[in-house]
Amino acid sequence: MTMSAKKEEKDEEMIIDTLDIISDTKKEKKIDEDDLADLPACGAKTVDKLKDCGYTSYMALATADPKTVAEVAEIGEATARKIIQGARNRIDMGFETGLDALKRRKEVNKLTTGSKTFDDLMGGGFETSAITECYGAYGSAKTQIAHQLAVNVQLPKSKGGLEGNVLFIDTENTFRPERIIEMAEAKELDTNDVLKRIFVARAYNSDHQLLLVEKAKEIIEEKNIKLIIVDSMMAHFRSEYIGRGTLADRQQKLNKHLHELQKLGDTFKICIYITNQVMAKPNVLFGDPTEAIGGHIIGHTSTFRIYLKRSKKDLRIVKLVDSPNLPDGQTIVRVTRDGIVDE
Ligand SMILES: Nc1ncnc2c1ncn2[C@@H]1O[C@H](COP(=O)(O)OP(=O)(O)OP(=O)(O)O)[C@@H](O)[C@H]1O
Ligand SMILES: [Mg+2]
Repeated sequence: MTMSAKKEEKDEEMIIDTLDIISDTKKEKKIDEDDLADLPACGAKTVDKLKDCGYTSYMALATADPKTVAEVAEIGEATARKIIQGARNRIDMGFETGLDALKRRKEVNKLTTGSKTFDDLMGGGFETSAITECYGAYGSAKTQIAHQLAVNVQLPKSKGGLEGNVLFIDTENTFRPERIIEMAEAKELDTNDVLKRIFVARAYNSDHQLLLVEKAKEIIEEKNIKLIIVDSMMAHFRSEYIGRGTLADRQQKLNKHLHELQKLGDTFKICIYITNQVMAKPNVLFGDPTEAIGGHIIGHTSTFRIYLKRSKKDLRIVKLVDSPNLPDGQTIVRVTRDGIVDE
């Protein structure tokens, strides 16, 4: 067997292990469990079905949409509405004052990128409860950043980590354990330990990608997941939906997917990192003739948008193009064997 075939086999084994973990957790006890039988119109059968589909808490139900709940629990939409309303009544979903919002903002944690200037650009790092999107051409370091974050999230808070683990949804088969080892060694971490805390799931098509995110809520608390990576967000969508006729379907599905991710970020106060590709804009004469794909939906749902561009040698230009609270700006980082570092 050649080296690369061996490596692929190893990767495949690791991914299969992770998928097993994801499905196994269904059988284990959930941490975030409420008494669903207490809800209106919620018989024992419905409770079982809801739990099977990951709706184990009032919060998960309160933020779900009736169509999906009706579908998964095989009940009518009116009943689903009643259940959701019941769940909403049981949690505090009212308005908050600006002061409360400020308090909530203080609970936001920041995950280090590995580069001080990149962190500064982001106001301290990638935020929890937010989606951060990096887009750029091939080789611009989107996947390198994904690997780096997967290592950094495990660091103690004093070192810019979130003391948690990571769910890595890999759509392009570009997750490389060897690369994690290099980055972990650079931080003098136990490489096996670091790898054990990264749950890789290979998504084979866009439906599978959606399913993995839907299933994610079953393992987030149990596996102490603090970061979800989707690398790349658009690859499957791009290849499966060709031609304008299917564009509306694609956008609908993409919208659902992004909102699901956003909900996970909000509910569990975790960091979401997605990568995106670019396409050429043929009508641009001046400036950079590329733009992110996925249309307005991704742009509007991502909390932070970063454009990455190759520069000389191992340098990458990092440009913050959209943020709700930070000025646009740019910096330069270096991609080395050790990972993402300052210029
Ligand atoms: N071990 C390493 N040491 C140093 N640099 C590396 C190493 N591995 C990869 N790189 C750098 O990272 C680049 C690949 O970046 P990356 O895979 O993140 O691109 P990407 O933006 O994800 O592209 P794509 O759109 O193809 O997915 C390589 O071209 C190389 O410059
Ligand atoms: Mg990549």
